[in-house]
Amino acid sequence: MLSLNNVTHVYPNGTRALEDASLTLEPGMFGLLGPNGAGKSTLMRCIATLQTPSAGSIQFGSIDVLRQPEKLRAVLGYLPQDFGVYPRVSALELLDHLAVLKGIAGRAERRETVETLLQQVNLWEVRKKAVAGYSGGMRQRFGIAQALIGNPQLVIVDEPTAGLDPEERNRFNDLLCELGQNSVVILSTHIVDDVTDACSRVAIMVNGRIVSIGEPHDMVAKLDERIWRTTIARGELEALRASANVISARLRAGHTEVHVLAEERPSGEFVAVDATLEDVYFATLTQERAPRAAAAHA
Ligand SMILES: Nc1ncnc2c1ncn2[C@@H]1O[C@H](COP(=O)(O)OP(=O)(O)O)[C@@H](O)[C@H]1O
Ligand SMILES: [Mg+2]
Repeated sequence: MLSLNNVTHVYPNGTRALEDASLTLEPGMFGLLGPNGAGKSTLMRCIATLQTPSAGSIQFGSIDVLRQPEKLRAVLGYLPQDFGVYPRVSALELLDHLAVLKGIAGRAERRETVETLLQQVNLWEVRKKAVAGYSGGMRQRFGIAQALIGNPQLVIVDEPTAGLDPEERNRFNDLLCELGQNSVVILSTHIVDDVTDACSRVAIMVNGRIVSIGEPHDMVAKLDERIWRTTIARGELEALRASANVISARLRAGHTEVHVLAEERPSGEFVAVDATLEDVYFATLTQERAPRAAAAHA
Protein backbone atom coordinates (compact mmCIF):
# COMPACT_ATOMS: atom_id res chain seq x y z
CA MET A 1 0.00 0.00 0.00
CA LEU A 2 1.20 3.50 -0.86
CA SER A 3 0.21 6.45 1.25
CA LEU A 4 0.95 10.12 0.85
CA ASN A 5 0.32 12.41 3.78
CA ASN A 6 -0.01 16.16 3.25
CA VAL A 7 2.68 16.30 0.58
CA THR A 8 3.49 19.84 -0.53
CA HIS A 9 6.14 20.94 -2.99
CA VAL A 10 7.33 24.46 -3.67
CA TYR A 11 10.00 24.98 -6.34
CA PRO A 12 12.90 27.35 -5.58
CA ASN A 13 11.29 30.00 -7.81
CA GLY A 14 8.21 29.98 -5.56
CA THR A 15 5.88 27.89 -7.74
CA ARG A 16 3.57 25.90 -5.48
CA ALA A 17 3.34 22.80 -7.68
CA LEU A 18 1.85 20.49 -5.07
CA GLU A 19 -0.44 21.58 -2.26
CA ASP A 20 -1.20 19.27 0.65
CA ALA A 21 -1.72 16.05 -1.32
CA SER A 22 -2.96 13.02 0.60
CA LEU A 23 -3.71 9.64 -0.98
CA THR A 24 -3.89 5.97 -0.07
CA LEU A 25 -3.47 3.45 -2.87
CA GLU A 26 -3.95 -0.32 -2.85
CA PRO A 27 -2.66 -2.56 -5.65
CA GLY A 28 -4.53 -1.81 -8.85
CA MET A 29 -4.46 0.84 -11.51
CA PHE A 30 -4.82 4.40 -10.38
CA GLY A 31 -5.34 7.27 -12.83
CA LEU A 32 -4.04 10.76 -12.13
CA LEU A 33 -5.92 13.09 -14.41
CA GLY A 34 -5.20 16.77 -14.86
CA PRO A 35 -4.36 19.48 -17.37
CA ASN A 36 -0.79 20.52 -18.17
CA GLY A 37 0.76 22.29 -15.22
CA ALA A 38 -1.54 20.66 -12.64
CA GLY A 39 1.37 19.09 -10.76
CA LYS A 40 1.14 15.48 -11.93
CA SER A 41 4.83 15.10 -12.82
CA THR A 42 5.88 16.82 -9.60
CA LEU A 43 3.77 14.40 -7.57
CA MET A 44 5.18 11.41 -9.43
CA ARG A 45 8.80 12.57 -9.09
CA CYS A 46 8.29 12.96 -5.35
CA ILE A 47 6.98 9.38 -5.07
CA ALA A 48 9.80 8.13 -7.32
CA THR A 49 12.38 9.74 -4.97
CA LEU A 50 13.74 12.05 -7.69
CA GLN A 51 12.88 15.11 -5.66
CA THR A 52 12.22 15.64 -1.98
CA PRO A 53 8.94 17.39 -1.28
CA SER A 54 9.05 20.56 0.82
CA ALA A 55 6.69 18.97 3.36
CA GLY A 56 4.75 15.81 4.06
CA SER A 57 5.54 12.11 4.17
CA ILE A 58 5.28 9.13 1.83
CA GLN A 59 5.08 5.50 2.89
CA PHE A 60 5.14 2.39 0.70
CA GLY A 61 4.47 -0.78 2.69
CA SER A 62 7.14 -0.70 5.40
CA ILE A 63 9.34 1.76 3.48
CA ASP A 64 9.57 5.38 4.59
CA VAL A 65 10.10 6.71 1.07
CA LEU A 66 11.76 10.03 1.97
CA ARG A 67 14.14 8.47 4.50
CA GLN A 68 14.88 5.23 2.63
CA PRO A 69 14.86 6.21 -1.05
CA GLU A 70 17.20 3.36 -2.05
CA LYS A 71 14.73 0.83 -0.65
CA LEU A 72 11.95 2.30 -2.71
CA ARG A 73 14.06 2.36 -5.88
CA ALA A 74 14.60 -1.39 -5.55
CA VAL A 75 10.86 -2.05 -5.96
CA LEU A 76 10.04 0.84 -8.27
CA GLY A 77 9.47 0.98 -12.02
CA TYR A 78 9.33 4.53 -13.32
CA LEU A 79 8.69 5.95 -16.76
CA PRO A 80 9.36 9.69 -16.70
CA GLN A 81 7.47 12.07 -18.96
CA ASP A 82 10.73 13.02 -20.67
CA PHE A 83 13.13 10.16 -20.94
CA GLY A 84 15.97 12.45 -22.00
CA VAL A 85 18.94 11.40 -24.10
CA TYR A 86 18.90 8.13 -25.97
CA PRO A 87 22.26 6.44 -26.42
CA ARG A 88 23.50 4.86 -29.62
CA VAL A 89 23.37 1.33 -28.30
CA SER A 90 20.81 -1.32 -29.16
CA ALA A 91 17.63 -1.81 -27.14
CA LEU A 92 18.87 -5.26 -26.17
CA GLU A 93 22.16 -3.96 -24.77
CA LEU A 94 20.62 -0.96 -23.04
CA LEU A 95 17.90 -3.01 -21.39
CA ASP A 96 20.49 -5.56 -20.27
CA HIS A 97 22.58 -2.76 -18.79
CA LEU A 98 19.57 -1.30 -16.98
CA ALA A 99 18.74 -4.77 -15.63
CA VAL A 100 22.25 -4.97 -14.15
CA LEU A 101 21.67 -1.62 -12.44
CA LYS A 102 18.36 -2.94 -11.14
CA GLY A 103 20.29 -5.73 -9.45
CA ILE A 104 19.52 -8.70 -11.69
CA ALA A 105 23.00 -10.21 -11.53
CA GLY A 106 22.51 -13.65 -13.10
CA ARG A 107 23.11 -13.73 -16.86
CA ALA A 108 20.43 -16.29 -17.61
CA GLU A 109 17.82 -14.53 -15.51
CA ARG A 110 18.67 -11.21 -17.09
CA ARG A 111 18.43 -12.60 -20.57
CA GLU A 112 15.05 -14.12 -19.81
CA THR A 113 13.82 -10.81 -18.32
CA VAL A 114 15.10 -8.66 -21.18
CA GLU A 115 13.80 -10.92 -23.93
CA THR A 116 10.36 -11.26 -22.37
CA LEU A 117 10.06 -7.49 -21.98
CA LEU A 118 11.14 -6.78 -25.55
CA GLN A 119 8.45 -9.14 -26.76
CA GLN A 120 5.82 -7.70 -24.42
CA VAL A 121 6.31 -4.19 -25.74
CA ASN A 122 6.61 -5.37 -29.32
CA LEU A 123 10.20 -4.32 -29.93
CA TRP A 124 11.56 -7.81 -30.56
CA GLU A 125 12.03 -7.29 -34.28
CA VAL A 126 14.05 -4.11 -33.74
CA ARG A 127 15.92 -5.17 -30.60
CA LYS A 128 19.31 -4.87 -32.30
CA LYS A 129 18.73 -1.34 -33.58
CA ALA A 130 20.06 1.71 -31.73
CA VAL A 131 17.49 3.26 -29.41
CA ALA A 132 18.69 6.68 -30.65
CA GLY A 133 17.20 5.86 -34.06
CA TYR A 134 13.78 4.78 -32.72
CA SER A 135 10.57 6.64 -33.58
CA GLY A 136 8.64 8.39 -30.80
CA GLY A 137 6.31 5.43 -30.29
CA MET A 138 9.18 2.96 -30.22
CA ARG A 139 11.05 5.03 -27.64
CA GLN A 140 7.94 5.17 -25.52
CA ARG A 141 7.65 1.39 -25.65
CA PHE A 142 11.31 1.07 -24.76
CA GLY A 143 10.69 3.36 -21.79
CA ILE A 144 7.86 1.10 -20.70
CA ALA A 145 10.06 -2.00 -20.99
CA GLN A 146 12.76 -0.47 -18.77
CA ALA A 147 10.14 0.53 -16.20
CA LEU A 148 8.99 -3.08 -15.92
CA ILE A 149 12.40 -4.66 -15.26
CA GLY A 150 12.40 -6.86 -12.18
CA ASN A 151 8.63 -7.02 -11.53
CA PRO A 152 8.32 -3.74 -9.63
CA GLN A 153 5.73 -3.55 -6.84
CA LEU A 154 5.18 0.12 -7.57
CA VAL A 155 4.91 1.28 -11.17
CA ILE A 156 4.74 4.98 -12.02
CA VAL A 157 4.16 6.00 -15.62
CA ASP A 158 3.96 9.68 -16.51
CA GLU A 159 1.87 10.42 -19.63
CA PRO A 160 2.89 7.08 -21.12
CA THR A 161 0.50 7.05 -24.07
CA ALA A 162 1.77 10.28 -25.64
CA GLY A 163 3.13 9.35 -29.04
CA LEU A 164 1.53 5.91 -29.17
CA ASP A 165 -0.89 4.99 -31.95
CA PRO A 166 -4.32 3.60 -30.91
CA GLU A 167 -3.25 -0.02 -31.24
CA GLU A 168 -0.09 0.53 -29.21
CA ARG A 169 -2.13 2.42 -26.65
CA ASN A 170 -4.53 -0.48 -26.17
CA ARG A 171 -1.69 -2.94 -25.91
CA PHE A 172 0.04 -0.75 -23.36
CA ASN A 173 -3.09 -0.21 -21.27
CA ASP A 174 -3.64 -3.99 -21.21
CA LEU A 175 -0.08 -4.48 -20.01
CA LEU A 176 -0.60 -1.99 -17.17
CA CYS A 177 -3.91 -3.61 -16.21
CA GLU A 178 -2.15 -6.93 -15.89
CA LEU A 179 0.50 -5.35 -13.67
CA GLY A 180 -2.23 -3.82 -11.55
CA GLN A 181 -3.29 -7.33 -10.45
CA ASN A 182 -0.36 -7.39 -8.01
CA SER A 183 1.30 -3.97 -8.04
CA VAL A 184 0.33 -0.40 -7.34
CA VAL A 185 0.24 1.26 -10.77
CA ILE A 186 -0.03 5.04 -11.11
CA LEU A 187 -0.75 6.44 -14.54
CA SER A 188 -0.84 10.16 -15.21
CA THR A 189 -2.54 11.60 -18.23
CA HIS A 190 -4.55 14.52 -19.55
CA ILE A 191 -6.50 12.11 -21.78
CA VAL A 192 -9.69 10.96 -20.07
CA ASP A 193 -10.03 7.92 -22.35
CA ASP A 194 -6.80 6.49 -20.98
CA VAL A 195 -8.30 6.07 -17.52
CA THR A 196 -12.02 5.52 -18.18
CA ASP A 197 -11.96 1.76 -18.61
CA ALA A 198 -8.55 0.89 -17.26
CA CYS A 199 -8.44 2.50 -13.82
CA SER A 200 -10.30 1.31 -10.75
CA ARG A 201 -9.70 4.68 -9.08
CA VAL A 202 -9.07 8.14 -10.40
CA ALA A 203 -7.93 11.46 -8.95
CA ILE A 204 -8.36 14.80 -10.65
CA MET A 205 -5.62 17.37 -10.05
CA VAL A 206 -5.90 21.09 -10.71
CA ASN A 207 -3.43 23.80 -9.70
CA GLY A 208 -1.37 21.50 -7.48
CA ARG A 209 -4.37 20.16 -5.58
CA ILE A 210 -6.14 16.82 -5.69
CA VAL A 211 -9.67 18.14 -6.01
CA SER A 212 -11.56 14.91 -6.55
CA ILE A 213 -10.89 11.24 -5.99
CA GLY A 214 -13.00 8.12 -6.41
CA GLU A 215 -14.15 5.29 -8.61
CA PRO A 216 -14.99 6.41 -12.16
CA HIS A 217 -18.43 4.81 -11.92
CA ASP A 218 -19.34 6.70 -8.72
CA MET A 219 -17.97 9.97 -10.01
CA VAL A 220 -20.08 9.68 -13.15
CA ALA A 221 -23.17 8.66 -11.16
CA LYS A 222 -23.02 11.99 -9.28
CA LEU A 223 -23.71 13.81 -12.55
CA ASP A 224 -26.65 11.56 -13.44
CA GLU A 225 -29.49 13.45 -15.15
CA ARG A 226 -27.61 16.74 -14.89
CA ILE A 227 -25.76 16.79 -18.22
CA TRP A 228 -27.53 18.52 -21.12
CA ARG A 229 -26.38 18.76 -24.71
CA THR A 230 -27.19 21.09 -27.54
CA THR A 231 -25.65 22.29 -30.79
CA ILE A 232 -25.14 25.97 -31.45
CA ALA A 233 -23.45 28.17 -34.02
CA ARG A 234 -19.91 29.02 -33.11
CA GLY A 235 -20.65 32.69 -32.48
CA GLU A 236 -23.28 31.87 -29.86
CA LEU A 237 -20.90 30.26 -27.39
CA GLU A 238 -19.96 33.36 -25.40
CA ALA A 239 -23.60 34.31 -24.90
CA LEU A 240 -24.44 30.80 -23.75
CA ARG A 241 -21.52 30.76 -21.33
CA ALA A 242 -22.92 33.90 -19.73
CA SER A 243 -26.29 32.28 -19.06
CA ALA A 244 -25.49 28.60 -18.49
CA ASN A 245 -22.86 26.41 -16.82
CA VAL A 246 -21.10 25.27 -20.00
CA ILE A 247 -18.57 22.58 -19.07
CA SER A 248 -17.36 21.69 -22.55
CA ALA A 249 -17.67 22.86 -26.13
CA ARG A 250 -16.30 21.14 -29.20
CA LEU A 251 -16.55 21.62 -32.91
CA ARG A 252 -18.43 18.90 -34.73
CA ALA A 253 -18.91 19.17 -38.48
CA GLY A 254 -18.99 22.96 -38.45
CA HIS A 255 -21.24 23.30 -35.40
CA THR A 256 -20.37 23.61 -31.75
CA GLU A 257 -21.63 20.86 -29.48
CA VAL A 258 -21.88 21.98 -25.88
CA HIS A 259 -22.46 20.17 -22.61
CA VAL A 260 -24.10 22.08 -19.79
CA LEU A 261 -24.27 20.97 -16.14
CA ALA A 262 -27.62 21.91 -14.59
CA GLU A 263 -30.31 20.47 -12.32
CA GLU A 264 -33.04 21.31 -14.83
CA ARG A 265 -33.18 21.36 -18.63
CA PRO A 266 -31.73 24.82 -19.50
CA SER A 267 -34.15 25.31 -22.41
CA GLY A 268 -36.12 23.45 -25.08
CA GLU A 269 -33.15 22.90 -27.43
CA PHE A 270 -31.26 20.83 -24.85
CA VAL A 271 -31.43 17.05 -24.66
CA ALA A 272 -30.46 14.98 -21.64
CA VAL A 273 -27.38 12.80 -22.18
CA ASP A 274 -25.70 10.12 -20.09
CA ALA A 275 -22.79 11.59 -18.16
CA THR A 276 -19.29 10.30 -18.88
CA LEU A 277 -15.98 10.59 -17.05
CA GLU A 278 -15.10 13.31 -19.52
CA ASP A 279 -18.08 15.32 -18.21
CA VAL A 280 -16.82 14.75 -14.66
CA TYR A 281 -13.37 15.99 -15.67
CA PHE A 282 -14.59 19.09 -17.50
CA ALA A 283 -17.14 19.91 -14.80
CA THR A 284 -14.37 19.71 -12.20
CA LEU A 285 -12.04 21.94 -14.23
CA THR A 286 -14.81 24.47 -14.84
CA GLN A 287 -15.66 24.60 -11.16
CA GLU A 288 -12.04 24.87 -10.03
CA ARG A 289 -11.23 27.60 -12.49
CA ALA A 290 -14.37 29.65 -12.02
CA PRO A 291 -13.41 31.48 -8.79
CA ARG A 292 -10.05 32.45 -10.28
CA ALA A 293 -11.62 33.66 -13.50
CA ALA A 294 -14.11 35.73 -11.51
CA ALA A 295 -11.30 37.22 -9.44
CA ALA A 296 -9.40 38.11 -12.60
CA HIS A 297 -12.41 39.99 -14.00
CA ALA A 298 -13.02 41.92 -10.77
N1 LIG B 1 11.77 22.51 -12.01
C1 LIG B 1 10.78 23.38 -11.89
N2 LIG B 1 10.98 24.63 -11.43
C2 LIG B 1 9.98 25.51 -11.29
N3 LIG B 1 8.69 25.25 -11.59
C3 LIG B 1 8.41 24.02 -12.04
C4 LIG B 1 9.43 23.02 -12.24
N4 LIG B 1 8.84 21.91 -12.72
C5 LIG B 1 7.52 22.19 -12.84
N5 LIG B 1 7.26 23.45 -12.44
C6 LIG B 1 5.95 24.11 -12.37
O1 LIG B 1 5.15 23.38 -11.45
C7 LIG B 1 3.81 23.27 -11.90
C8 LIG B 1 3.44 21.81 -12.05
O2 LIG B 1 4.20 21.24 -13.09
P1 LIG B 1 4.15 19.70 -13.42
O3 LIG B 1 4.33 18.92 -12.16
O4 LIG B 1 5.12 19.45 -14.51
O5 LIG B 1 2.64 19.52 -13.93
P2 LIG B 1 2.00 18.47 -14.95
O6 LIG B 1 2.88 17.26 -14.98
O7 LIG B 1 0.64 18.18 -14.40
O8 LIG B 1 1.93 19.14 -16.29
C9 LIG B 1 3.75 24.06 -13.20
O9 LIG B 1 3.33 25.37 -12.89
C10 LIG B 1 5.19 24.06 -13.67
O10 LIG B 1 5.45 25.19 -14.48
MG1 LIG C 1 3.76 16.29 -16.53
